Amino acid sequence: MFATVVSTFLIAAMCSGVANGLAHLPPRVSGDPQQLGHTQDAAFSNQYYSDGGAGGKVNGYNLLTLSDARVGNSYPVHTVYAYAGTRNNDPTQITIIGDYTKNPPFYHLGDDGSGDGVIISDSSDSVHGPCFGPGPNTAMVRIPGNSTGGVTVWTVFDACQNPPVAQYNTLIEFNVVNPDTLNSQNKNIPAQRTVLRLFNANEPQYGTDGLATDGTYYYLLALDNTGYKLARVAVGDRANRGQYYFYYPSSKQWTKTIHTLNDNSTTLYAPPPPNTGIFGSDFYYSPYFQTWLLTYSPADPYSAKYLAVAYSTSGNPEGPYTFAGTPFKPATDPECQTLGNGGISYLVHSQPGFDESGATLLVSWISCNTFTNMARLTWAS
Ligand SMILES: *[C@@H]1O[C@H](CO)[C@@H](O)[C@H](O)[C@H]1NC(C)=O
Ligand SMILES: *[C@@H]1O[C@H](CO)[C@@H](O)[C@H](O)[C@H]1NC(C)=O
Repeated sequence: MFATVVSTFLIAAMCSGVANGLAHLPPRVSGDPQQLGHTQDAAFSNQYYSDGGAGGKVNGYNLLTLSDARVGNSYPVHTVYAYAGTRNNDPTQITIIGDYTKNPPFYHLGDDGSGDGVIISDSSDSVHGPCFGPGPNTAMVRIPGNSTGGVTVWTVFDACQNPPVAQYNTLIEFNVVNPDTLNSQNKNIPAQRTVLRLFNANEPQYGTDGLATDGTYYYLLALDNTGYKLARVAVGDRANRGQYYFYYPSSKQWTKTIHTLNDNSTTLYAPPPPNTGIFGSDFYYSPYFQTWLLTYSPADPYSAKYLAVAYSTSGNPEGPYTFAGTPFKPATDPECQTLGNGGISYLVHSQPGFDESGATLLVSWISCNTFTNMARLTWAS
């Protein structure tokens, strides 16, 4: 018995590399995923449809971004947050935050452009009115030292061009409190853009493709044609664009010199195949694997998406990163057929806040632009 344990450890150590005396095992999934169905808010008689994106855990609440949202077939709405797992500890039971007493409710791309959304355009924005298109696709991350504070980074698109064209990304902060009080169902989650333009469109969109904190720094990932790149900023300096540092893997240095988009001198991880159509990434520390995981959602040739996993073999956010496989491929929700929507499933996001031990991973994905589906993966030991 003892000999088996020792030899297993040695094999794992040889295969994965060892740093700080720890072996970082390649994350592998054990058994079949537990299918959980799609999200529902009982307040809408389960007639609330949306696609869904990144999550995040702040102040004990699991947040989920919902987009292209609608109630039944009427009043189209846009981006809102929901608190997930609000009933029976079931992550698919959600409480949508926003004002749906208005007509149109929530964030509507109305003619005046102000909407009543999670974020609204500022007079200094290059796009206004119905052209102001925020892309809510990054996890919300806690603010160390502020139990209710959350931060995220969204890219702002010019939605009047077809397809929409990215303008820059923006840093947003939230006050995440009890949904029964301030964030009641008839109020939006309080949000403020604390850096209106974080990275311009000719720069890597750091933060758009992954955001995490170790309690000291925020780490921000950008994806371009060369792969993923890493920036960081001290937590207290996050609103100061001049205090962001960029990581150069070849020299293992952090410097303030930023490189232009699609320059490979700062590329941290170039995803191997499947690597086409990557859309949606999450970056987080796993206590279970004692290292940093990067998960992302590449397309296969038929447009269904995988969950792809990479991990840092050093235990540090700077990597190096190794591909660990595609442990999950989503199925389209059965109700897509009933609704006659057919369609594809895509945008697989990790929702690591639901199991902070990291032993299991909740994943979410979009079915036929209508449902946010969820499943739970169990990592192999
Ligand atoms: C926590 O952060 C949020 C977002 O910036 C802010 O609204 C809130 O006032 C902060 N709370 C405290 C106690 O500083
Ligand atoms: C960057 O790309 C060039 C040209 O393809 C290649 O020679 C070089 O090794 C790459 N550098 C890195 C750090 O990937």
